[in-house]
Amino acid sequence: MTPLLELRDISIQFGGLKAVSNLSLTIEREQIVGLIGPNGAGKTTVFNLITGIYRPTAGGVFFNSENINKKRSYERTWLGIARTFQNIRLFKQLTVAENIIFAMHYNRDIGIFSSMLRLPHFWRERNEVNKKANEYLEYINMLDMRNERAENLPYGRQRELEIVRAIATGAELLLLDEPAAGMNPQETKQLMRFIDKVRNDMHKSVLLIEHDMGLVMGISDKVAVLDYGQKIVEGKPSEVQHNKKVIETYLGKGDDDAES
Ligand SMILES: Nc1ncnc2c1ncn2[C@@H]1O[C@H](COP(=O)(O)OP(=O)(O)OP(=O)(O)O)[C@@H](O)[C@H]1O
Ligand SMILES: [Mg+2]
Repeated sequence: MTPLLELRDISIQFGGLKAVSNLSLTIEREQIVGLIGPNGAGKTTVFNLITGIYRPTAGGVFFNSENINKKRSYERTWLGIARTFQNIRLFKQLTVAENIIFAMHYNRDIGIFSSMLRLPHFWRERNEVNKKANEYLEYINMLDMRNERAENLPYGRQRELEIVRAIATGAELLLLDEPAAGMNPQETKQLMRFIDKVRNDMHKSVLLIEHDMGLVMGISDKVAVLDYGQKIVEGKPSEVQHNKKVIETYLGKGDDDAES
């Protein structure tokens, strides 16, 4: 089977800075792939290239074997790529349920577009949308919080809600940018189980940027290491952890949060 996502030799330059250089990486269906590297290595830029915020100056981004270089961000969401952000970007003033329902606008399976246009199915679909949103909320044990404003949730729950919001778009591929940032060890463990469960129950693929080594090494099928925009190592967590280059990259930069 062809990979779900394939980055073929992609590069992007900002002025004189090569933020990503000749990067190739594949993500198979139902695979969790870790993307690690020191601060400024180019990890978030890779997400911006996959989601169409930026276009590569060279190389191609392939999704389900299709070159999507020319697709706009919302078209990529339609195709099945969704992300979370390094700094949480929920609609803070909206309720938990509204955050989910808004994301479902992208979900072709649910057909919310016709309801937005007030076609005859409007009322029936509105009920379906609410029902589906509740199912998502039940999945993360947040049904009782459905009418809370997102900003009032505890931090860890906001992070989980952001992941479920990405799932609610109907995405096959989830890009998670440092989902454990700011979490305590207990929340991080819970998050780790949650990501693994999402992959297993919902058959999603995940590209995971994370500085928490326990998390990324604990659930990834493979890990790629970026340094100055280049992939220096790729392999199974056990191989990457003991790789000399990787150890030097982290220790050499005194990057505290990357060592834990
Ligand atoms: N739009 C832009 N214009 C100019 N430089 C940029 C732009 N976006 C990113 N960069 C630069 O590209 C490099 C990679 O940044 P990026 O945000 O991808 O790093 P990162 O690996 O996600 O780091 P962190 O772990 O701190 O989040 C950095 O030097 C950054 O300053
Ligand atoms: Mg980043």
